[in-house]
Amino acid sequence: MLRKCLFPVAGYGTRFLPATKSMPKEMLPVVNKPLVQYGVEEAIEAGMTNCALVTGRGKRAIADHFDISYELEHQIAGSSKEPLLESIRDVIDQGIFTMVRQREMLGLGHAVLTGEPLIGPEPFGMVLSDDLCLNTGGPSVLAQMARLFDEFGCSIVAVQEVPDEEIHNYGVIAGKQLREGITRVERMVEKPSAAEAPSNLAIIGRYILTPDIFDVIRGTAPGASGEIQITDALQQQANTGGVIAYQFKGRRFDCGSVPGFVEATNHVYETIYRP
Ligand code: G1P
Repeated sequence: MLRKCLFPVAGYGTRFLPATKSMPKEMLPVVNKPLVQYGVEEAIEAGMTNCALVTGRGKRAIADHFDISYELEHQIAGSSKEPLLESIRDVIDQGIFTMVRQREMLGLGHAVLTGEPLIGPEPFGMVLSDDLCLNTGGPSVLAQMARLFDEFGCSIVAVQEVPDEEIHNYGVIAGKQLREGITRVERMVEKPSAAEAPSNLAIIGRYILTPDIFDVIRGTAPGASGEIQITDALQQQANTGGVIAYQFKGRRFDCGSVPGFVEATNHVYETIYRP
C-alpha cells in the first residue's frame, strides 16, 4: 500500500529567470494552477495522500499554498469569488503535507535522502513537478504505476521514448521487455550522450521507490554533474532485478523548459480550462 509521495522542490529554476528570482519555479502557473498542485493532485488520486515536500530556501510560498489563508478566506467568504478557491481547498482537505529543508543542492539522490525522515521504512511515490503528466479520462500516471507496484513490488520508473538530440537531458534505461510497455531494467545511465545511451527510453519524473533506496543512496558516490544521482542508486537496485521501467499512458510536458511550459499551457487551456 503506497501512502506517501515525495516532492523534491528545492531546485532553482534558472531557465525561468527572472520569473523565478523570488518565486519557486514549482509555483509557476499552468493557466491558473501552480505546477506543484498538478503533481499533488496526481499523488492524491493515486492514493498517496501524505505529501512530503523537500523544500529549500525561498520556497515558503509552496508551504503556504497547501495551508489556509485566513485573510483571503475572510475576504471572499460568501462572495461570488469563493468557488475559485475550491480546487485548492479540496487538495488541502484530502492531503497531509510535511516538509523538510534540503540545505545544499547535492543532486536528486541527495534530495531523496533528505526526505527519508518524512517517509520512513515504506515504499513511496516520487513526483518531479517539472514534468506535468496528464491522462485525461483515465488513471493518472502515478496511479498506473501504483497498480503496477501491486504486481511487482519493486521500484518503478516511468519512461518515454525521446529523440536522440534530447537524450542527454535524461536518465536512460535498457533491459529485458517483460510485456508491452514493461521492461525489467538492467542498465541505467544518467545524462548520456546520444552515442553512449543504451536506448532511447528516457526516465520521466515519476517514480515508485522501495525504502532500501535510502541505504543505497548513502553508499552512492557523486556521478554525472558531480551530483548524487537517483539513477545511480536505482542501478544498484536494478543489479538484483529490483527496477521496472513503465511506458505510461498519457501525455507528458517538460515544464522545466520554456517551450514545454508553453505547450502545456496551451494544452491545458484548450482541453481543461476553456471547456
Ligand atoms: C532528473 C533525473 C533524470 C530524469 C529527469 C526527468 O533530471 O536525474 O534521470 O530523466 O529528472 O525529468 P533533471 O531534470 O533534474 O536534470
